Amino acid sequence: MGATRRIGILTSGGDCAGLNAVIRAVVHSASDRHGWEVLGIRQATQGLMARPPEAILLTSEKVNPYLMAGGTMLGTTNKGNPFAFPMPDGSLRDRAQDIIDGYHLLGLDALIGIGGDGSLAILQRIAQQGNLNLVGIPKTIDNDVGVTEVSVGFDTAVQVATEALDRLHFTAASHSRVMILEVMGRDAGHIAMSAGIAGGADIILIPEISYTVDGICQAIKKRQEQGKNYCLMIVAEAVRTEDGSPVTLPNTGAEECRLGGIGQYLSERICNQMDAETRVTVLGHTQRGATPSHLDRLMGAVFGVAAVELIAKGQYDHVVTWQKRRVVSVPISEAIARYAAVNPTGTLVNTARGLGIYLGD
Ligand code: F6P
Repeated sequence: MGATRRIGILTSGGDCAGLNAVIRAVVHSASDRHGWEVLGIRQATQGLMARPPEAILLTSEKVNPYLMAGGTMLGTTNKGNPFAFPMPDGSLRDRAQDIIDGYHLLGLDALIGIGGDGSLAILQRIAQQGNLNLVGIPKTIDNDVGVTEVSVGFDTAVQVATEALDRLHFTAASHSRVMILEVMGRDAGHIAMSAGIAGGADIILIPEISYTVDGICQAIKKRQEQGKNYCLMIVAEAVRTEDGSPVTLPNTGAEECRLGGIGQYLSERICNQMDAETRVTVLGHTQRGATPSHLDRLMGAVFGVAAVELIAKGQYDHVVTWQKRRVVSVPISEAIARYAAVNPTGTLVNTARGLGIYLGD
């Protein structure tokens, strides 16, 4: 194993708060401590496909101002699977070898990939094909990477959703309304569950627990009978209609189906079934671009430094995770395999029920 001299770093998948904190930590640790060069690769693997490869030399001076900025200073993408990459003529091409060649053209000794399970799976496949030295760092507002208790980006997304509930509370009470907040999370209800408890929601709907419109109306009526004139409800985007259909949006350039609209669906059903005035707020991408919370910056620092340490030890094909108050490295294949939705019998669901929150039936 030759000495490490130059490493690359890229962000892949949807952006989230805290990515710049990871990049900064990697640069501080790799450059300032180990004396390595750090190249920031533009637009995920697309920067390695480009000729010449699109990368910039990262220094402490360059990355420091981004610590408190949302998004990613390197750019990212959540489309363009490199194994079936859409070409200008409409055909699909396997670009994995171009990425491998890009890694070598840049003279990299190792690559740090920051991504969710989908991105980590793609990066691992490329690394195995090209025998590249890869270390992963988990990030996702969806919090569904099961091997780690914390993923970069989740905390800020929950904070944004909690603050939204705080604001909706006042309008709900002032106008005697049912205020519905629709949040992201892809197929998991983690954001809705955590923000719902923290923000004092009366109803939390997540895809992991089924509901009925009847049940929701009963919960609202019960509050009315107790003299509470309003109701605060949070719903995860992947919650389905009563008959089990997903609610989706027009694709508008996305590759994956876009979830959205369940808040409006429920708003209309509730109104039709009972005497209630409803309004819907869809939080959307404000959950991703916010100023990173202290926890996302902290975990960014922890993961960034730990990833550099793995490279220094030559321990590749691993992802850094947070378990039981410490950082632990885990094989990437394990990280990809362990998807974590909300546990319907877990502590948070139990807590919500204990608080009298309606979760479904
Ligand atoms: O995976 C992160 C996420 O924000 C999901 O919660 C959401 O469903 C999706 O990405 C939105 O993707 P896009 O940015 O392509 O609209």
